[in-house]
Amino acid sequence: MKNELDYIAGRIEKYISDTKKITATPGQGVTRLPFTLESKRCVHYLEEKMKNMGLAVTEDASGAIIGILEGKSEQRIMIGSHYDSVEHGGAYDGMAGILCGLEIAAYYIRNQMIPPYTLEIAGLNDEEGDRFGGGYLSSKAFLGKWTTNDLKYYIDKHGISYYDAMILYGYAPEHLMRAERPRKGWKGYLEIHVEQGPIMESQGIEIGIVETIVAIQRYYITIVGKADHAGTQPMDTRSDAVMAAMDVITNMRKYVLKHKGMVGTVGEIHVYPNEINIVPEKITFSIDVRSADQEWLDECVHQISEDIKKKEMKGFTCEMKPTLTNTVTAMKEEWVKGLEKSADRLGFSNMRINSGAGHDAAIIGKEVDTAMLFVPSVGGRSHIPEEYSDERDLAKAVLTAIDFIDHIDEERKSE
Ligand code: GLV
Ligand code: MN
Ligand code: MN
Repeated sequence: MKNELDYIAGRIEKYISDTKKITATPGQGVTRLPFTLESKRCVHYLEEKMKNMGLAVTEDASGAIIGILEGKSEQRIMIGSHYDSVEHGGAYDGMAGILCGLEIAAYYIRNQMIPPYTLEIAGLNDEEGDRFGGGYLSSKAFLGKWTTNDLKYYIDKHGISYYDAMILYGYAPEHLMRAERPRKGWKGYLEIHVEQGPIMESQGIEIGIVETIVAIQRYYITIVGKADHAGTQPMDTRSDAVMAAMDVITNMRKYVLKHKGMVGTVGEIHVYPNEINIVPEKITFSIDVRSADQEWLDECVHQISEDIKKKEMKGFTCEMKPTLTNTVTAMKEEWVKGLEKSADRLGFSNMRINSGAGHDAAIIGKEVDTAMLFVPSVGGRSHIPEEYSDERDLAKAVLTAIDFIDHIDEERKSE
Protein backbone atom coordinates (compact mmCIF):
# COMPACT_ATOMS: atom_id res chain seq x y z
CA MET A 1 0.00 0.00 0.00
CA LYS A 2 2.88 2.37 0.75
CA ASN A 3 4.03 2.27 -2.88
CA GLU A 4 0.50 2.96 -4.07
CA LEU A 5 0.18 5.84 -1.61
CA ASP A 6 3.45 7.44 -2.71
CA TYR A 7 2.56 6.95 -6.36
CA ILE A 8 -0.85 8.61 -5.97
CA ALA A 9 0.61 11.41 -3.85
CA GLY A 10 3.20 12.14 -6.54
CA ARG A 11 0.55 12.40 -9.22
CA ILE A 12 -1.66 14.67 -7.13
CA GLU A 13 1.33 16.90 -6.40
CA LYS A 14 2.01 17.28 -10.13
CA TYR A 15 -1.66 18.07 -10.89
CA ILE A 16 -1.85 20.60 -8.06
CA SER A 17 1.24 22.34 -9.36
CA ASP A 18 -0.34 22.46 -12.86
CA THR A 19 -3.74 23.77 -11.74
CA LYS A 20 -2.20 26.28 -9.33
CA LYS A 21 -0.92 28.06 -12.42
CA ILE A 22 -4.42 28.52 -13.81
CA THR A 23 -5.08 31.79 -12.02
CA ALA A 24 -5.94 35.39 -12.85
CA THR A 25 -3.51 36.56 -10.14
CA PRO A 26 -0.14 34.85 -10.71
CA GLY A 27 2.06 35.12 -7.62
CA GLN A 28 -0.91 36.21 -5.51
CA GLY A 29 -2.81 33.00 -5.04
CA VAL A 30 -5.41 31.21 -7.11
CA THR A 31 -8.18 33.38 -8.55
CA ARG A 32 -10.46 31.29 -10.73
CA LEU A 33 -13.83 32.95 -10.82
CA PRO A 34 -16.74 31.41 -12.72
CA PHE A 35 -17.22 32.17 -16.42
CA THR A 36 -13.76 33.62 -16.92
CA LEU A 37 -10.79 32.68 -19.08
CA GLU A 38 -9.25 30.88 -16.09
CA SER A 39 -12.30 28.72 -15.54
CA LYS A 40 -12.31 27.80 -19.24
CA ARG A 41 -8.62 26.89 -19.12
CA CYS A 42 -9.21 24.80 -16.03
CA VAL A 43 -12.08 22.91 -17.64
CA HIS A 44 -9.86 22.18 -20.65
CA TYR A 45 -7.12 20.90 -18.36
CA LEU A 46 -9.51 18.55 -16.57
CA GLU A 47 -11.15 17.47 -19.81
CA GLU A 48 -7.82 16.52 -21.32
CA LYS A 49 -6.82 14.52 -18.22
CA MET A 50 -10.17 12.71 -18.25
CA LYS A 51 -9.95 11.90 -21.96
CA ASN A 52 -6.36 10.68 -21.66
CA MET A 53 -7.48 8.31 -18.92
CA GLY A 54 -10.17 6.93 -21.21
CA LEU A 55 -13.15 8.40 -19.37
CA ALA A 56 -16.23 9.40 -21.36
CA VAL A 57 -16.38 13.17 -20.88
CA THR A 58 -19.34 15.54 -20.85
CA GLU A 59 -19.61 19.22 -19.96
CA ASP A 60 -23.04 20.19 -18.70
CA ALA A 61 -24.99 23.43 -19.03
CA SER A 62 -23.71 24.72 -15.67
CA GLY A 63 -20.08 24.31 -16.67
CA ALA A 64 -19.54 21.09 -14.73
CA ILE A 65 -17.05 18.75 -16.38
CA ILE A 66 -17.78 15.08 -15.80
CA GLY A 67 -15.70 12.01 -16.69
CA ILE A 68 -17.49 8.68 -16.57
CA LEU A 69 -15.93 5.31 -15.75
CA GLU A 70 -18.36 2.49 -16.30
CA GLY A 71 -18.88 0.16 -13.40
CA LYS A 72 -20.51 -3.23 -12.87
CA SER A 73 -23.76 -1.39 -12.15
CA GLU A 74 -25.21 1.43 -14.21
CA GLN A 75 -26.08 3.21 -10.97
CA ARG A 76 -23.81 6.20 -10.60
CA ILE A 77 -21.67 7.46 -7.74
CA MET A 78 -20.50 11.00 -8.37
CA ILE A 79 -17.12 11.91 -6.89
CA GLY A 80 -16.53 15.60 -7.18
CA SER A 81 -15.70 19.02 -5.91
CA HIS A 82 -15.42 22.53 -7.38
CA TYR A 83 -12.84 24.03 -9.73
CA ASP A 84 -13.63 27.69 -9.04
CA SER A 85 -11.81 29.50 -6.25
CA VAL A 86 -12.14 32.59 -4.13
CA GLU A 87 -10.05 35.63 -5.11
CA HIS A 88 -6.44 35.13 -4.00
CA GLY A 89 -7.28 31.69 -2.64
CA GLY A 90 -5.30 28.47 -2.42
CA ALA A 91 -4.53 25.60 -4.76
CA TYR A 92 -6.31 22.90 -2.74
CA ASP A 93 -9.81 24.14 -1.91
CA GLY A 94 -12.08 22.30 -4.34
CA MET A 95 -9.41 21.32 -6.83
CA ALA A 96 -7.84 18.75 -4.48
CA GLY A 97 -11.16 16.90 -4.38
CA ILE A 98 -11.47 16.75 -8.16
CA LEU A 99 -7.89 15.49 -8.51
CA CYS A 100 -8.55 12.86 -5.82
CA GLY A 101 -11.60 11.80 -7.83
CA LEU A 102 -9.43 11.42 -10.94
CA GLU A 103 -7.01 9.33 -8.93
CA ILE A 104 -9.82 7.04 -7.76
CA ALA A 105 -10.78 6.38 -11.38
CA ALA A 106 -7.11 6.04 -12.38
CA TYR A 107 -6.62 3.40 -9.67
CA TYR A 108 -9.37 1.18 -11.09
CA ILE A 109 -8.12 1.65 -14.64
CA ARG A 110 -4.47 1.01 -13.73
CA ASN A 111 -5.33 -2.16 -11.85
CA GLN A 112 -7.73 -3.32 -14.56
CA MET A 113 -10.55 -3.41 -12.06
CA ILE A 114 -14.16 -2.49 -12.71
CA PRO A 115 -15.73 -0.45 -9.91
CA PRO A 116 -18.98 -1.84 -8.48
CA TYR A 117 -20.84 1.29 -9.57
CA THR A 118 -20.35 3.67 -12.45
CA LEU A 119 -18.15 6.53 -11.30
CA GLU A 120 -18.74 10.10 -12.40
CA ILE A 121 -15.66 12.18 -11.66
CA ALA A 122 -16.91 15.73 -11.54
CA GLY A 123 -15.44 19.22 -11.53
CA LEU A 124 -18.25 21.53 -10.43
CA ASN A 125 -18.58 25.21 -11.30
CA ASP A 126 -18.99 28.14 -8.91
CA GLU A 127 -19.32 26.61 -5.47
CA GLU A 128 -17.75 29.60 -3.75
CA GLY A 129 -20.13 32.33 -4.84
CA ASP A 130 -17.22 34.75 -4.86
CA ARG A 131 -18.22 36.47 -8.06
CA PHE A 132 -22.02 36.59 -7.80
CA GLY A 133 -22.53 36.20 -4.04
CA GLY A 134 -24.50 32.95 -3.92
CA GLY A 135 -22.60 30.02 -5.36
CA TYR A 136 -23.36 26.30 -5.72
CA LEU A 137 -24.16 26.80 -9.38
CA SER A 138 -23.52 23.23 -10.56
CA SER A 139 -24.76 21.43 -7.47
CA LYS A 140 -28.03 23.36 -7.50
CA ALA A 141 -28.29 22.83 -11.26
CA PHE A 142 -27.93 19.06 -10.74
CA LEU A 143 -31.06 19.26 -8.57
CA GLY A 144 -32.93 21.58 -10.94
CA LYS A 145 -32.95 24.49 -8.50
CA TRP A 146 -32.31 27.41 -10.91
CA THR A 147 -34.75 29.64 -12.74
CA THR A 148 -33.94 32.22 -15.39
CA ASN A 149 -35.03 34.92 -12.92
CA ASP A 150 -32.43 33.69 -10.41
CA LEU A 151 -29.75 34.02 -13.06
CA LYS A 152 -30.69 37.66 -13.60
CA TYR A 153 -30.88 38.34 -9.84
CA TYR A 154 -27.24 37.53 -9.08
CA ILE A 155 -24.94 40.34 -10.17
CA ASP A 156 -21.17 40.71 -9.83
CA LYS A 157 -19.39 43.88 -8.74
CA HIS A 158 -19.18 45.10 -12.33
CA GLY A 159 -22.95 44.80 -12.77
CA ILE A 160 -22.78 41.60 -14.86
CA SER A 161 -25.43 39.02 -13.99
CA TYR A 162 -24.99 35.26 -14.06
CA TYR A 163 -27.27 35.36 -17.07
CA ASP A 164 -25.08 37.78 -19.02
CA ALA A 165 -21.84 36.18 -17.85
CA MET A 166 -23.02 32.83 -19.17
CA ILE A 167 -23.84 34.31 -22.57
CA LEU A 168 -20.46 36.08 -22.74
CA TYR A 169 -18.83 32.74 -21.89
CA GLY A 170 -20.64 31.04 -24.77
CA TYR A 171 -23.31 29.29 -22.71
CA ALA A 172 -27.08 29.44 -23.09
CA PRO A 173 -28.49 30.35 -19.65
CA GLU A 174 -31.92 28.98 -20.59
CA HIS A 175 -30.28 25.58 -20.97
CA LEU A 176 -29.16 25.51 -17.34
CA MET A 177 -32.34 23.64 -16.43
CA ARG A 178 -31.08 20.79 -18.63
CA ALA A 179 -28.27 20.17 -16.15
CA GLU A 180 -30.76 18.58 -13.75
CA ARG A 181 -29.71 14.98 -13.22
CA PRO A 182 -32.15 12.12 -12.86
CA ARG A 183 -32.29 10.98 -9.23
CA LYS A 184 -33.11 7.46 -10.36
CA GLY A 185 -29.84 5.65 -10.79
CA TRP A 186 -27.91 8.31 -8.84
CA LYS A 187 -26.58 6.21 -5.99
CA GLY A 188 -24.75 8.98 -4.20
CA TYR A 189 -22.24 11.79 -4.05
CA LEU A 190 -18.83 11.64 -2.41
CA GLU A 191 -16.62 14.69 -1.95
CA ILE A 192 -13.03 14.79 -0.76
CA HIS A 193 -11.97 18.20 0.53
CA VAL A 194 -9.30 19.85 2.62
CA GLU A 195 -10.54 20.56 6.15
CA GLN A 196 -9.74 24.29 5.93
CA GLY A 197 -9.56 24.50 9.73
CA PRO A 198 -7.17 23.43 12.52
CA ILE A 199 -8.98 20.52 14.22
CA MET A 200 -7.52 17.49 12.45
CA GLU A 201 -3.96 18.79 12.44
CA SER A 202 -4.08 19.68 16.12
CA GLN A 203 -5.25 16.15 16.96
CA GLY A 204 -2.89 14.41 14.55
CA ILE A 205 -5.75 12.81 12.59
CA GLU A 206 -5.28 11.58 9.01
CA ILE A 207 -8.87 11.27 7.80
CA GLY A 208 -11.90 13.36 8.72
CA ILE A 209 -15.36 11.97 8.09
CA VAL A 210 -17.93 14.73 7.91
CA GLU A 211 -21.14 14.38 9.91
CA THR A 212 -22.84 17.71 9.22
CA ILE A 213 -22.28 20.86 7.17
CA VAL A 214 -23.07 24.19 8.80
CA ALA A 215 -26.09 26.40 7.98
CA ILE A 216 -25.14 29.59 6.12
CA GLN A 217 -26.95 32.78 5.24
CA ARG A 218 -25.51 35.52 3.05
CA TYR A 219 -26.75 39.01 2.25
CA TYR A 220 -25.63 42.16 0.50
CA ILE A 221 -26.72 45.19 2.49
CA THR A 222 -26.86 48.62 0.88
CA ILE A 223 -27.30 51.78 2.93
CA VAL A 224 -27.75 55.12 1.14
CA GLY A 225 -27.35 58.42 3.00
CA LYS A 226 -26.17 61.78 1.71
CA ALA A 227 -22.79 62.94 0.40
CA ASP A 228 -21.41 66.15 1.91
CA HIS A 229 -18.21 68.08 2.43
CA ALA A 230 -16.08 66.31 5.06
CA GLY A 231 -14.92 69.57 6.61
CA THR A 232 -17.95 71.81 6.59
CA GLN A 233 -20.92 69.55 7.30
CA PRO A 234 -21.42 69.31 11.09
CA MET A 235 -21.59 65.82 12.56
CA ASP A 236 -25.21 66.14 13.69
CA THR A 237 -26.56 67.00 10.23
CA ARG A 238 -24.84 64.22 8.32
CA SER A 239 -26.34 61.08 6.81
CA ASP A 240 -23.08 59.13 6.72
CA ALA A 241 -23.64 55.70 5.16
CA VAL A 242 -20.40 54.24 6.56
CA MET A 243 -21.23 55.27 10.14
CA ALA A 244 -24.68 53.71 9.77
CA ALA A 245 -23.13 50.48 8.45
CA MET A 246 -20.69 50.43 11.36
CA ASP A 247 -23.60 50.25 13.81
CA VAL A 248 -25.16 47.34 11.93
CA ILE A 249 -21.85 45.48 11.71
CA THR A 250 -20.91 46.06 15.35
CA ASN A 251 -24.29 44.75 16.51
CA MET A 252 -23.93 41.67 14.32
CA ARG A 253 -20.56 40.95 15.89
CA LYS A 254 -21.98 41.30 19.41
CA TYR A 255 -24.78 38.89 18.58
CA VAL A 256 -22.47 36.32 16.97
CA LEU A 257 -20.03 36.38 19.89
CA LYS A 258 -22.82 35.49 22.32
CA HIS A 259 -23.36 32.11 20.62
CA LYS A 260 -20.86 29.28 20.80
CA GLY A 261 -19.44 28.27 17.46
CA MET A 262 -21.34 30.92 15.53
CA VAL A 263 -19.36 33.04 13.04
CA GLY A 264 -20.14 36.23 11.13
CA THR A 265 -18.05 37.91 8.45
CA VAL A 266 -18.20 41.18 6.56
CA GLY A 267 -15.72 40.34 3.82
CA GLU A 268 -16.70 42.72 1.07
CA ILE A 269 -17.30 46.47 1.33
CA HIS A 270 -17.88 49.03 -1.40
CA VAL A 271 -18.11 52.68 -0.50
CA TYR A 272 -19.33 55.46 -2.78
CA PRO A 273 -17.83 57.85 -3.70
CA ASN A 274 -14.87 56.45 -1.72
CA GLU A 275 -13.05 59.77 -1.29
CA ILE A 276 -11.08 61.00 1.71
CA ASN A 277 -12.89 64.32 2.03
CA ILE A 278 -16.47 63.40 1.13
CA VAL A 279 -19.00 62.10 3.66
CA PRO A 280 -19.86 58.67 2.17
CA GLU A 281 -23.19 58.60 0.41
CA LYS A 282 -23.55 54.88 -0.09
CA ILE A 283 -22.13 51.63 1.21
CA THR A 284 -22.75 48.05 0.12
CA PHE A 285 -21.33 45.27 2.28
CA SER A 286 -21.67 41.53 2.47
CA ILE A 287 -22.75 39.54 5.50
CA ASP A 288 -21.97 35.85 5.83
CA VAL A 289 -23.28 34.28 9.04
CA ARG A 290 -23.03 30.60 9.95
CA SER A 291 -24.12 28.35 12.76
CA ALA A 292 -25.00 24.74 13.43
CA ASP A 293 -28.04 26.13 15.27
CA GLN A 294 -30.74 27.28 12.86
CA GLU A 295 -32.61 29.30 15.49
CA TRP A 296 -29.54 31.35 16.40
CA LEU A 297 -28.90 32.01 12.75
CA ASP A 298 -32.48 33.09 12.02
CA GLU A 299 -32.49 35.28 15.12
CA CYS A 300 -29.19 36.92 14.09
CA VAL A 301 -30.56 37.74 10.65
CA HIS A 302 -33.75 39.06 12.26
CA GLN A 303 -31.68 41.36 14.49
CA ILE A 304 -29.73 42.66 11.49
CA SER A 305 -32.97 43.42 9.66
CA GLU A 306 -34.31 45.24 12.75
CA ASP A 307 -31.12 47.33 12.90
CA ILE A 308 -31.58 48.19 9.25
CA LYS A 309 -35.17 49.26 9.88
CA LYS A 310 -33.86 51.62 12.57
CA LYS A 311 -31.53 53.19 10.01
CA GLU A 312 -34.47 53.62 7.62
CA MET A 313 -36.36 55.44 10.35
CA LYS A 314 -33.39 57.81 10.58
CA GLY A 315 -33.77 58.67 6.89
CA PHE A 316 -31.38 56.20 5.23
CA THR A 317 -32.54 54.15 2.26
CA CYS A 318 -31.62 50.52 2.83
CA GLU A 319 -31.74 47.18 1.03
CA MET A 320 -30.95 43.71 2.38
CA LYS A 321 -30.52 41.39 -0.56
CA PRO A 322 -30.33 37.67 0.28
CA THR A 323 -27.95 35.60 -1.82
CA LEU A 324 -27.73 32.32 0.06
CA THR A 325 -29.80 30.36 2.58
CA ASN A 326 -28.45 26.92 3.41
CA THR A 327 -29.77 24.91 6.33
CA VAL A 328 -27.62 22.31 8.12
CA THR A 329 -27.04 19.21 5.99
CA ALA A 330 -26.38 15.81 7.59
CA MET A 331 -24.26 13.31 5.72
CA LYS A 332 -25.63 9.81 5.11
CA GLU A 333 -24.97 7.94 8.37
CA GLU A 334 -24.60 4.58 6.62
CA TRP A 335 -21.83 6.07 4.48
CA VAL A 336 -20.20 7.79 7.45
CA LYS A 337 -19.96 4.39 9.17
CA GLY A 338 -18.70 2.77 5.97
CA LEU A 339 -15.96 5.38 5.59
CA GLU A 340 -14.94 4.90 9.22
CA LYS A 341 -14.59 1.18 8.60
CA SER A 342 -12.54 1.80 5.46
CA ALA A 343 -10.17 4.21 7.24
CA ASP A 344 -9.83 1.68 10.09
CA ARG A 345 -9.17 -1.18 7.69
CA LEU A 346 -6.37 0.83 6.08
CA GLY A 347 -4.96 1.86 9.45
CA PHE A 348 -5.58 5.61 9.00
CA SER A 349 -6.46 7.51 12.15
CA ASN A 350 -9.88 9.09 11.71
CA MET A 351 -12.48 11.23 13.40
CA ARG A 352 -15.98 12.48 12.79
CA ILE A 353 -16.03 16.21 12.15
CA ASN A 354 -18.53 18.96 11.39
CA SER A 355 -17.84 21.32 8.53
CA GLY A 356 -17.89 25.07 9.10
CA ALA A 357 -17.25 25.60 5.40
CA GLY A 358 -19.93 25.26 2.78
CA HIS A 359 -19.61 22.51 0.17
CA ASP A 360 -21.48 21.23 -2.87
CA ALA A 361 -22.16 18.21 -0.64
CA ALA A 362 -24.40 20.48 1.47
CA ILE A 363 -26.68 21.04 -1.53
CA ILE A 364 -26.59 17.58 -3.08
CA GLY A 365 -26.84 15.93 0.37
CA LYS A 366 -30.35 17.31 0.79
CA GLU A 367 -31.69 14.96 -1.89
CA VAL A 368 -29.04 12.33 -2.63
CA ASP A 369 -27.02 10.03 -0.31
CA THR A 370 -23.87 12.01 0.36
CA ALA A 371 -20.64 11.78 2.32
CA MET A 372 -17.45 13.80 2.65
CA LEU A 373 -13.86 13.02 3.56
CA PHE A 374 -11.62 15.71 5.00
CA VAL A 375 -7.85 15.91 4.78
CA PRO A 376 -5.83 17.99 7.29
CA SER A 377 -5.00 21.57 6.34
CA VAL A 378 -1.50 22.60 7.34
CA GLY A 379 -1.75 25.43 9.87
CA GLY A 380 -5.53 25.06 9.66
CA ARG A 381 -5.63 27.82 7.06
CA SER A 382 -7.61 28.19 3.84
CA HIS A 383 -8.96 30.78 1.38
CA ILE A 384 -5.44 32.19 1.31
CA PRO A 385 -2.55 31.67 -1.14
CA GLU A 386 -0.54 29.74 1.52
CA GLU A 387 -3.25 27.06 1.84
CA TYR A 388 -1.55 23.65 1.88
CA SER A 389 -2.38 20.01 2.50
CA ASP A 390 0.11 17.16 2.29
CA GLU A 391 -0.38 15.18 -0.91
CA ARG A 392 0.22 11.97 1.04
CA ASP A 393 -2.79 12.84 3.18
CA LEU A 394 -4.82 13.41 0.03
CA ALA A 395 -3.67 10.02 -1.24
CA LYS A 396 -4.89 8.46 2.03
CA ALA A 397 -8.32 9.92 1.35
CA VAL A 398 -8.18 8.44 -2.18
CA LEU A 399 -7.39 4.97 -0.82
CA THR A 400 -10.10 5.30 1.86
CA ALA A 401 -12.65 6.25 -0.80
CA ILE A 402 -11.66 3.30 -3.01
CA ASP A 403 -11.99 0.88 -0.10
CA PHE A 404 -15.37 2.43 0.74
CA ILE A 405 -16.63 2.09 -2.84
CA ASP A 406 -15.49 -1.52 -2.93
CA HIS A 407 -17.45 -2.28 0.27
CA ILE A 408 -20.26 0.18 -0.25
CA ASP A 409 -23.25 -2.08 0.27
CA GLU A 410 -21.84 -4.02 3.19
CA GLU A 411 -22.91 -1.41 5.74
CA ARG A 412 -26.54 -1.79 4.68
CA LYS A 413 -26.32 -5.58 4.89
CA SER A 414 -24.85 -5.39 8.40
CA GLU A 415 -27.65 -3.07 9.65
C1 GLV B 1 -16.75 28.05 0.83
O1 GLV B 1 -15.60 27.64 0.92
C2 GLV B 1 -17.34 28.68 1.97
O2 GLV B 1 -17.53 28.00 2.99
O3 GLV B 1 -17.59 29.88 1.90
MN1 MN C 1 -14.33 24.28 -1.20
MN1 MN D 1 -13.81 27.66 -0.41
